Amino acid sequence: MPARILSGNAIRDQIYTELKQEIAALAAAGIRPGLAAVLVGENPASQIYVRSKIAACEQLGLGSWMETPPATVTTDEMLARVALLNARDDVDGILVQLPLPPQVDSKRVLEAVDPAKDVDGFHPVNLGRLVSGRAGLVACTPAGCMEILRRSGIALEGANAVVVGRSDIVGKPMALLLMHANATVTICHSKTRDLPGVVRGADIVVAAIGRAAMVEPGWVRPGATVIDVGINRITDAVEARRIFANFPTKLAQFTEKGSVLVGDVHPGVAEVAGAMTPVPGGVGPLTIAMLMSNTVRAARLRRAAVAGKP
Ligand code: GUN
Repeated sequence: MPARILSGNAIRDQIYTELKQEIAALAAAGIRPGLAAVLVGENPASQIYVRSKIAACEQLGLGSWMETPPATVTTDEMLARVALLNARDDVDGILVQLPLPPQVDSKRVLEAVDPAKDVDGFHPVNLGRLVSGRAGLVACTPAGCMEILRRSGIALEGANAVVVGRSDIVGKPMALLLMHANATVTICHSKTRDLPGVVRGADIVVAAIGRAAMVEPGWVRPGATVIDVGINRITDAVEARRIFANFPTKLAQFTEKGSVLVGDVHPGVAEVAGAMTPVPGGVGPLTIAMLMSNTVRAARLRRAAVAGKP
């Protein structure tokens, strides 16, 4: 039986409905949460991502600002921008879109963001809170994966969860979130021995490696839940024919557009898994939804902190 498809779009819509109510309640109290995004240079993928994030703010009635320094920007200039955004009371969330150009010290810039406004959850203070199970602002992609699992009724307690990929942005926080949900977690990476064998032991697989269609049908235990974080654009015809040999609709898309999207999970896994997120339309919509949720949360937490001060 083919896998149940876990649609990120439907879950995103649910979250937006809830957020709109929360935003309306805040508006009644005179509060409008706002997000400032800093987009450096002309990276086309980053431009698309940041525009989608700003569009989501507009759709939900959140304040939004976009700063677009040139690709020649220095670390000091970035630090000065972040300091100004930290000081602004109308800015609740600050998002510095990655990657930054090589001359900019990304770590220093991310560490300069006020942890209370760190809606990406990248600041060491927020990572530390996540480690100790007192999470405030959690990285959007792993938080989105958890929402998919939770809202789809996938049982986590006692489950064997395998996270493939150990990035700071996805793999590591994802493993921590699953562990806090009482799953038994294994983190795999490029040096893992017998990766297919380890993945075969999983009730829940989270693929966040950044390699097209790497997790193959033979790696997945029948009935497992598979969350595909990858988003890879295939532009090579030989590769497209290899991956999509049995997927005529995808091949037709490739023929028409010259490219096609695939996750880190081979589409044939849908024949084995019990539940699986699609690409596109799986984890992607949740990443933006969680950014919106974090912005609203940051607005609340920051005001609660101010109100709580003597
Ligand atoms: N670049 C790729 N993904 C992300 C993300 O989630 N946040 C930021 N700021 N940059 C990214």
